[in-house]
Amino acid sequence: MLNVTNLSHNFGSYWALKNCSFSLKKGEFLLLTGSSGAGKTTLLRLLYASLPVMRGKVNVAGYDLKNLPARQIPNLRRSVSVVFQDFKILPYRTVYQNVAMALEVRGLNQIHIDRRVRAVVRGLGLEPRINTLCGELSGGEQQRVAVARSVVVNPKILLADEPTGNLDEELAARMMGIFKQFHMHGTTVVLATHSSELVRMHPEARQLRLEHGKIVAANWRGAQIFSEKIKEVHS
Ligand SMILES: Nc1ncnc2c1ncn2[C@@H]1O[C@H](COP(=O)(O)OP(=O)(O)O)[C@@H](O)[C@H]1O
Ligand SMILES: [Mg+2]
Repeated sequence: MLNVTNLSHNFGSYWALKNCSFSLKKGEFLLLTGSSGAGKTTLLRLLYASLPVMRGKVNVAGYDLKNLPARQIPNLRRSVSVVFQDFKILPYRTVYQNVAMALEVRGLNQIHIDRRVRAVVRGLGLEPRINTLCGELSGGEQQRVAVARSVVVNPKILLADEPTGNLDEELAARMMGIFKQFHMHGTTVVLATHSSELVRMHPEARQLRLEHGKIVAANWRGAQIFSEKIKEVHS
């Protein structure tokens, strides 16, 4: 479902990712950890084709991102949904409108859209705010709208950048519950977080730790630790 091989990425002379390799099967749940600046957002942006793959190989949901023509990007994004760190929701639209929009562009019928939107909004505890303009919501509520909008389309792969960052413990746990539910239904989830608490609470998840752009730790065999790779190269 997701294959990353020797992926490196630079911004000018700065290498934000160095030789990263890992793969995830359909339905696996990955916690991508590492302190601020480690390269988590850069990695997610590459997986979503919002940054071009320059070094290495990336295959996401069957798309080879290195050779992906621009006209294929909308197709990729039908399979891959993202919760951005900065939400990217529309402040002058209501919660309902923001969430429904993701389905409207796919041409689903109104009854179906309505049912799906209400179910997801309810699941995230946003029902009392459904007709509120998003600009009037708190940071935590906006974050939940962003999550609602990305899960409502039933993506094959869900990428989430620090989605629990602005939430108190109870809401964070509830949001994790939602991600878990999708994962249970076969969605592959990659969740970036700098919270060690979250990692401690989900020992069953695949975990991959980035430091200065390198994979320094992982808890499954589908990932290659940077130093092991170097040893291999030199042995
Ligand atoms: N567009 C950019 N231009 C220049 N440097 C960037 C850009 N995006 C990220 N970086 C740098 O790459 C490194 C990794 O950033 P990022 O992927 O955002 O880390 P994280 O999400 O783990 O905090 C940081 O040092 C950051 O300053
Ligand atoms: Mg980040």
